[in-house]
Amino acid sequence: MTIQIDTLFDEKAIAERIEALAAEVADAKPEKLLVVGILNGSFIFAADLVRAMHRAGLQPEMAFMRLSSYGSGTISSGNVEIHQDVDSDVNDRDIILVDDILESGRTLNFAKERLLSRGAKSVKIAALLDKQESRKAPIEADYVGFACPDKFVVGYGMDMAHAWRQLPFIGYVVPSDKSGGDS
Ligand code: IMP
Ligand code: MG
Repeated sequence: MTIQIDTLFDEKAIAERIEALAAEVADAKPEKLLVVGILNGSFIFAADLVRAMHRAGLQPEMAFMRLSSYGSGTISSGNVEIHQDVDSDVNDRDIILVDDILESGRTLNFAKERLLSRGAKSVKIAALLDKQESRKAPIEADYVGFACPDKFVVGYGMDMAHAWRQLPFIGYVVPSDKSGGDS
């Protein structure tokens, strides 16, 4: 069975949106800026975002957290597991947490609370895609790339069963009953 992937946001649209996000971040004049990418899904977005930040006149440092969340039936953040924590000093810094998709919000809510409890001055959220209608935790993004329709998306760092992260655009998996027929 072949999997059909259609384009949702192309490379040009993504690049333009990221320049605009970086300009918004620069307008807020962050101090001692630390950008924290949530692995694995954010790796391409974070890489492009920090380079756009550089062009916007910022000098961010970069760190990573690797987290996974389990279960879908509870609202607690206790079901988020830390595989790799931020190893930089976060005390008194402005932090931007970067992730691919803000969906239930459990992962980013957990990461934000953790960094604040470690003494961060502020923690803002940059999400490439926002699945607003799926929110379960009390969190919103400060910087959003695009509102995401209710589709399973892949590419630009995002995966389906570990595949498709390498696509340079954001695509969506076309349900197989619609991908047959004339093509
Ligand atoms: P949540 O906000 O804690 O529910 O976590 C959202 C995470 O689920 C994202 O960072 C992705 O890793 C994953 N995810 C949600 N929707 C999709 C999708 O459509 N494609 C790929 N990964 C997704
Ligand atoms: Mg993720």
